[in-house]
Amino acid sequence: MPNLFKIDSSTFINLTMLLLFINKSIIFTRKGSVMKMKLQKWWHDKIVYQIYPKSFKDNNNDGIGDIKGIISKLDYLRDLGVDILWLTPYFKSPMEDNGYDVADYLEVNEMFGSMEDILELLAECKKRNMYIMMDIVANHTSSEHTWFKESKKSKNNPYRDYYIWRDEPLFDCQSTFGGSAWEYDEQTNQYYFHEFAKGQPDLNWENPKVLDEIAKCINFWLDKGVKGIRFDVIHLIGKEIDQNIHAYGPTLHQKVHELYKKSYGNYDIVTVGEAWGDLAKAIDFTDPKNEELDMVFQFECTSSTNDPLRLGKFTPRPIDMEFVKNTLIKYQNGLNDRSWNALFVENHDLGRCINRFGSLEFYDKSAKAIAVMNYFLKGTPYIYQGQELGMTNIKITDINDYDDVEVHGFYKEYVLDKKLLTYEEFLDGCHKEARDNNRTPIQWNNQINAGWNDGAKPWLKINPNYTEINAENQINNQNSIYSFYKDLIALRKNSLYCNTFVYGKFIAHLIERKNIFMYTRETDNQKILVVTNMCGERENISLPFEIEKVLLSNYNHSYNENITLEPYEAFAALIK
Ligand code: NOJ
Ligand code: CA
Repeated sequence: MPNLFKIDSSTFINLTMLLLFINKSIIFTRKGSVMKMKLQKWWHDKIVYQIYPKSFKDNNNDGIGDIKGIISKLDYLRDLGVDILWLTPYFKSPMEDNGYDVADYLEVNEMFGSMEDILELLAECKKRNMYIMMDIVANHTSSEHTWFKESKKSKNNPYRDYYIWRDEPLFDCQSTFGGSAWEYDEQTNQYYFHEFAKGQPDLNWENPKVLDEIAKCINFWLDKGVKGIRFDVIHLIGKEIDQNIHAYGPTLHQKVHELYKKSYGNYDIVTVGEAWGDLAKAIDFTDPKNEELDMVFQFECTSSTNDPLRLGKFTPRPIDMEFVKNTLIKYQNGLNDRSWNALFVENHDLGRCINRFGSLEFYDKSAKAIAVMNYFLKGTPYIYQGQELGMTNIKITDINDYDDVEVHGFYKEYVLDKKLLTYEEFLDGCHKEARDNNRTPIQWNNQINAGWNDGAKPWLKINPNYTEINAENQINNQNSIYSFYKDLIALRKNSLYCNTFVYGKFIAHLIERKNIFMYTRETDNQKILVVTNMCGERENISLPFEIEKVLLSNYNHSYNENITLEPYEAFAALIK
């Protein structure tokens, strides 16, 4: 009698094919004779594009970007090849920190548009197979939020415990934006805690009602079709303020897991956490068995220019690209088969990557090299608005023309109060690192106000280089930075190579070469080589591989075994 429960290898392969067919979420790879199963998620091959709504496109010409402006540019984004749009907070807000001070999570910020506009945006994205990722600020609210207004009224108000109140400021804590993190409130003769600006009181996550409220707000949007969440400073919830523990408090992971269970874990969405920490902490957050987050942003690279021995980001030091390379390798190896990386070099809190990681002297080549180096790694690419156009930092020469609460907070502390820096020294730091650098209006063409609106004064200065650097100039130019990003995205998604770029193993090579970042991405039947010269000098290398086909390059070179790489030369190639 045949043994019905015994299957031979060909039956097994057929069964796996069948499984593959009926359930696209399972793939098999063959390693030696061992079959290994991996879970495939719908978002694994997607590209995220970050939109700062206030600066993206001003449709109604009131000087502030808006949701209708985003809708008007969806075809531009679709053509570029991006899939998921991460919108920084678009909720009701007095805008002390440009939306990271939320006054009502269930209402749309009037300056950006209406609920109808957001619903239209969701519908228009759907038509183009695109998705929206929202930005949830769970650590704090605005002081204009009803919860805080109630909380402030009296010590026995039902909302009092939604926030952190104490009789005395503890541990002389400094706020991230300068000055004390404790604010005295006359009405009840107590102090409330704010990690960020005064208008951003911290929620008290010790109170279980806070988690329930935040879960409700998240579900409200997920039910409307939002497919992703970026969690603002999520490592700060679960703090133990009485012991001066701010980040990674003892209840952090339990809280995030509970939120997952009560909210987004019940939806098929993608999540990313802003979590300042190290590799071990990133693993805790993203190990799928912990059921917390899909990925976190690592800031070791992007914050490495902050000088810890002086005044941090306002006295920046030059970038050390070898450190950047080694850090990227560390995260690639550390998260490799376990969880997932978020790949980014810019966001709304940083300066432009050409200024920080590249070189204005080799403007075009370095912009492209940064993209090659970063976006063929394993993980989800995040492109920040304008990065694909090679937008650069802006030189604002009057402190009053800066908008950011952080700039003004530290200007007061470092220049006016403590006199640690001169006005000029502080401005110099701002030119390199101020967050306003990345928040200037997007440069769409060389017409009035860079085509961002029809002429009303923009809320923040437009970079005068818009006459040269703008989308219209680049879209039909095959050699532009925009076209390079478009080609890079298309290559990453090309069905011939996609599996290797998304799931292929990461292996670093020539690690000892200070200025060279060389790695391969490998599956059982394909190997792709990625090489970047990260400096402005020529570099000679001997390739330990035979090149079959160049897939993308920022110089039009063909390559053999011995190569002289030009400054910031970068390429990806199929190898034998
Ligand atoms: C991180 C956000 O990215 C930043 O813009 C904001 O100021 C702080 N969190 C506070 O919400
Ligand atoms: Ca507007």
